[in-house]
Amino acid sequence: MGGDRYLVTAALPYANGPIHIGHAIGCYIPADVYTRYRRLRGDDVVYICGTDEHGTPITVSAEKEGVSPREIVDKYHGMHLEAFKAAGVEFDNFSGTAREIHYELSQAFFRKVDENGYIHRETVERPYCPSCGRFLPDRYVKGRCPDCGSEDERGDQCEACGKQLEPHELVDPYCDICRETPEMRETEHWFFELSELSDKLGEWLRSGKLSSSLPNNARNFALGWIKEGLKDRAITRDMTWGIPVPVEGADGKVLYVWFDAPIGYISSTKEWSEGRGEPGLWKDYWLGENDCKVVHFIGKDNIPFHIVIWPAMLMAEGSYNLPWQVASNEFLNLEGRKMSTSRGWVIWLHDILEEFEADAVRYYLLSIAPETSDSDFKLEEFQDKVNKELIGTLGNFINRTLTFIKSKKDGVVPNMGVLEDLDKDFMNDIKACSKDVGGELERFKLKHAQDTLLHYAQKGNVYFQNREPWKGENDTSLYLCANLCRSLAILMHPFLPFSAEKVWKMLGLEGGVAEQTWDSAGELRLEGRHRIGEVSALYSKIEDDSIAEFKKRYLPIGEGRGKEEVKEMVDYEEFNKVDLRVATVKKIEDHPNADKLVLLTIDVGSLGERQIVAGIKEAYKSEDLVGRQIIVVANLKPAKIRGVESNGMLLAADEDGNPILLQPDRKVKPGSRIH
Ligand code: 2FM
Ligand code: ZN
Repeated sequence: MGGDRYLVTAALPYANGPIHIGHAIGCYIPADVYTRYRRLRGDDVVYICGTDEHGTPITVSAEKEGVSPREIVDKYHGMHLEAFKAAGVEFDNFSGTAREIHYELSQAFFRKVDENGYIHRETVERPYCPSCGRFLPDRYVKGRCPDCGSEDERGDQCEACGKQLEPHELVDPYCDICRETPEMRETEHWFFELSELSDKLGEWLRSGKLSSSLPNNARNFALGWIKEGLKDRAITRDMTWGIPVPVEGADGKVLYVWFDAPIGYISSTKEWSEGRGEPGLWKDYWLGENDCKVVHFIGKDNIPFHIVIWPAMLMAEGSYNLPWQVASNEFLNLEGRKMSTSRGWVIWLHDILEEFEADAVRYYLLSIAPETSDSDFKLEEFQDKVNKELIGTLGNFINRTLTFIKSKKDGVVPNMGVLEDLDKDFMNDIKACSKDVGGELERFKLKHAQDTLLHYAQKGNVYFQNREPWKGENDTSLYLCANLCRSLAILMHPFLPFSAEKVWKMLGLEGGVAEQTWDSAGELRLEGRHRIGEVSALYSKIEDDSIAEFKKRYLPIGEGRGKEEVKEMVDYEEFNKVDLRVATVKKIEDHPNADKLVLLTIDVGSLGERQIVAGIKEAYKSEDLVGRQIIVVANLKPAKIRGVESNGMLLAADEDGNPILLQPDRKVKPGSRIH
């Protein structure tokens, strides 16, 4: 085996926010593990990525942060690169889709698909916001999912049920920038004729051209979608940030981000080969049937695009290799709850790497990789697994072997002596370890592969314990243990690249561990009389204090992020139960039994008039309040406050203990809902 060609990609991350641990284990770390493994097998592998810099994820973030899309993109491109580097995720090229090379390739791709007859133009109705004066593509519009009924979903995909959406399909839509209800207006768009490719896609999915490890759920999902009937898809948008549609009459239109993004896998490969001074090299990976295996690592929300739409685009274009494998992970939760960047319930990759060793983070993430179902990141479990398994099993075996050789054998690996049964068995284990771990990696079972690696380290511990080398003449066992250390260093390299290198150095071996071959890990290459290097602890133990400190600093519980105090996290569903409304103040009276309280009679539109008790007497004069609009919680259970019933509560900011009333920006109908 060996000597095959692979093009490995990881989903191009949007350049609109940092990378969190769920993204990291979703595809970037797995693709890195796979790439490192393939290289040790002697394969020719290129690992490609870059930032996804177009589309409404970028422009909405830019508008909300008040900066240009370019600034957003540059900021997060740089942050992504740093975080990946700290995590040991090593790309051959990390490009970006707003670069010249990508514009050219994407436009050429579009033209070719058009020439091949898979694109048509059509006048359609799309949501248009009259107050913003523009069409509302994808994430600019929110509303109810037509399928599952989930509220406040974005116009491109429902987060709750995963359904791909078009902005005009949302029920009760509203503009995400100004909250206005959009109207439908005519506009012209270019459509990709996905429907025409159903048969070809079906054939390809059933053929033997895909990896036998293609997850069944992905294949079945795709076949199911085809059976349902694929629909043609708009691949242009009314926006200015993006790649101009390269045809006459398309002014003000750009390519849809999901049309240009996957082409980024090819343009980034091109950029890589140009950077190496071999501008034609990319062709070895993208052109020519079956010559190169294209492996896409993605998170599960990207499955539809990579298993149906992207292959269909490639078929319609006709020049490039189709995917051979689409490896996708499910979602990672955090302490039992879905991660959410908007709610701050998230651990950023750069934060955790700031506090803990990269290999410890990689180890734990890989040990809970959501390969077949969602999994849960728990900080205490992270501490426990790192201390007990990574340090207690793997680190312990390597350190006790090498420390023993250092102190009792002057740092020289003894020669092999007579082999007893126990030794022969152990020798067979060493010979089997690279095959066992490699077998799992071949099947894309990364988590099992790492478990198997640990299993062999544990065998080492048991053997060491049984052979009791400290009791005197037992050189064979030390010889064999030192050899297992060497084997483990090689097998560790894909998963734990930093500590693998450290073990290699401690063993006093030449070169780097990345230059070794996987198969050599199944051989006894370390000879008697070899002198090992300096020995030190491989990992540092994670103390209770570090976990407590990390929680305090990075998770919004108790004393949350920074100095802000967030008392308790609530689920979106819980929050959504609170019925907030606009009300108009009708009348004010003093509370009969309290100096600081007033009784407000308010008009809540369709909910009628009611009375609430509020503590604003010292802050507002009554003449300032009548006629004014406020925001109230309308579904609070009635309560008696100092003997008077209150049917709701008003909202106010708390500035050093003084209430500052919240009010709508302009007059609205009383009773209007607040979302
Ligand atoms: O979901 C995402 O983060 C997308 N930016 C992934 C794009 S993958 C590819 F096709 F470029
Ligand atoms: Zn608007």
